Amino acid sequence: LKRLSASVENTKIDEEIAEKLDVLSFSSTTKTIRLADLGCATGPNTFFAMQNVIKAIIHKYQSLSPTSPLPEFQVFFNDQVSNDFNTLFVALPPERKYFAAGVAGSFHNRLFPESSLHFVHSSYSLQWLSALPHYTSAPDEVFHAYSTQFAKDMDNFLNARAKELVPGGMMVLILSGIPKGMPYSQLPAGTMYNLLATILMDMAAEVSYSSYSFPGDNGLEFSRTFKDCYLWKTRKLLILIPQQLNFRHYCNCLFKF
Ligand SMILES: C[S@@+](CC[C@H](N)C(=O)[O-])C[C@H]1O[C@@H](n2cnc3c(N)ncnc32)[C@H](O)[C@@H]1O
Repeated sequence: LKRLSASVENTKIDEEIAEKLDVLSFSSTTKTIRLADLGCATGPNTFFAMQNVIKAIIHKYQSLSPTSPLPEFQVFFNDQVSNDFNTLFVALPPERKYFAAGVAGSFHNRLFPESSLHFVHSSYSLQWLSALPHYTSAPDEVFHAYSTQFAKDMDNFLNARAKELVPGGMMVLILSGIPKGMPYSQLPAGTMYNLLATILMDMAAEVSYSSYSFPGDNGLEFSRTFKDCYLWKTRKLLILIPQQLNFRHYCNCLFKF
């Protein structure tokens, strides 16, 4: 599914670059085209995306001015400071046709000097909020709190990028969305959470009536209070696991509940 959606996204990006990116205006001011992928994670999707964008830009250059020398490319890979940049850099494609640099920090703030980027890309990252909003458990209030925080974050993001992109630059944002008016429960994620909720409810019901133990006396005790989960509130889940069981067995046991 991810591969299929990536191929549709790439085709769309290729078309937009071919039609709208004014590469000749860049060549009059610089010999280096600078790209950034914001929320790049550790790869490999970011490598495919950057490779595709560079290919489309080269194609545009060659179609407009076949005899001119091509520009050089620099790609900035951005993510939170906690991202595993070591993994990202170790996995960089050896045959890449760009200079790579990491930029750690939140894309809700300024990350680059003014008018320094020609192309900004961000896929499936902007749905991450900069902070958890405050709300009670009323569904309308929860929805409002999250959408207000998202609007604030988007505002900061767009203001920062507006300064960082060169005039004539391009930004591509790929985001999950919900068709207007469609109930959340009918979306794949909604169905998944409903299913998870049913399982947790069943577990909660069982735990309150029975106690579980596994063969063997020297069992480890796992106890968790799901204080923050609306389904669990103050419930406690107690799981007894004999020491010889490994984590996979533990998961199997958990799923049996
Ligand atoms: C679901 S991953 C997407 C990774 C990649 N872009 C892709 O399409 O496969 C979301 C990434 O966004 C990053 N992210 C979330 N908030 C961010 C922020 N404020 N600034 C920079 N990166 C952020 C996360 O750390 C995570 O690596």
